[in-house]
Amino acid sequence: MDGNGRWAKQRYLPRLAGHRQGLESLSECVKNCLLRGVRVLTVFAFSSENWSRPPEEVSGLMDLVVNALMREAAALKEQGVRMFFIGDRAALSHQVTSVIAQAEVMTAANQRLIFNVCLNYGGRWDITQAASRLASSNMAITPESLDGAMAMAHVPDPDLFIRTGGEQRLSNFLLWQAAYSELYFSNKLWPEFDAAELDAAIAAYSGRERRFGKISEQIKPVQPPSTSSTLQKAPPYAS
Ligand code: FPP
Repeated sequence: MDGNGRWAKQRYLPRLAGHRQGLESLSECVKNCLLRGVRVLTVFAFSSENWSRPPEEVSGLMDLVVNALMREAAALKEQGVRMFFIGDRAALSHQVTSVIAQAEVMTAANQRLIFNVCLNYGGRWDITQAASRLASSNMAITPESLDGAMAMAHVPDPDLFIRTGGEQRLSNFLLWQAAYSELYFSNKLWPEFDAAELDAAIAAYSGRERRFGKISEQIKPVQPPSTSSTLQKAPPYAS
């Protein structure tokens, strides 16, 4: 959800005003995902590296999360949204951890949309914590065991990875899980990411061919040879 700060700067507003507008945009995005039948939405709300921002921005962001959850958790529950908070909770305040735990419990019976909020999250943190957990239980580290120990093990890998704000990098988000995700970079700042932008991202995704290391012909159904021309040979890959 990149671009909140720039959105505010363009309007001569404090950065926190950009984050507040970003929260509005996120609320719309959840509704738009529900309308489109998206099953899992994962957002990067605060990275392991965001602690190095000015202290008033960090505390403002934490307050925004707490207030948003106190205001919106009941409505999310009614909409069938199940919330998960992904990240290292050790550094979060008691107020934040208790509000996020409450939101998880409150929405635990829902299934319509899984909404993962990454808070004090980093892809490198996730890989490290998964490997340490396996090592401390004397379990072999394999792609499968690591996958199961990751903080995102409750959902499949993301199909579509969207970054707003014009930057073209992953910035330590879902490093393990995005191995085969389709990447989409939007020039819109996050507060401007609306239904039309979401649809543009989904349309771009729909046009991609996902080969997962295979070749095109292994993915597409092979067309039967035409019966109207006796000269036409079956393609070599048809069997
Ligand atoms: C990145 O933009 C955005 C963030 C670090 C914060 C995003 C958080 C929210 C939208 C609120 C989330 C709230 C809940 C309840 C999930 P930036 O500040 O890096 O933008 P810039 O690159 O333009 O400076």
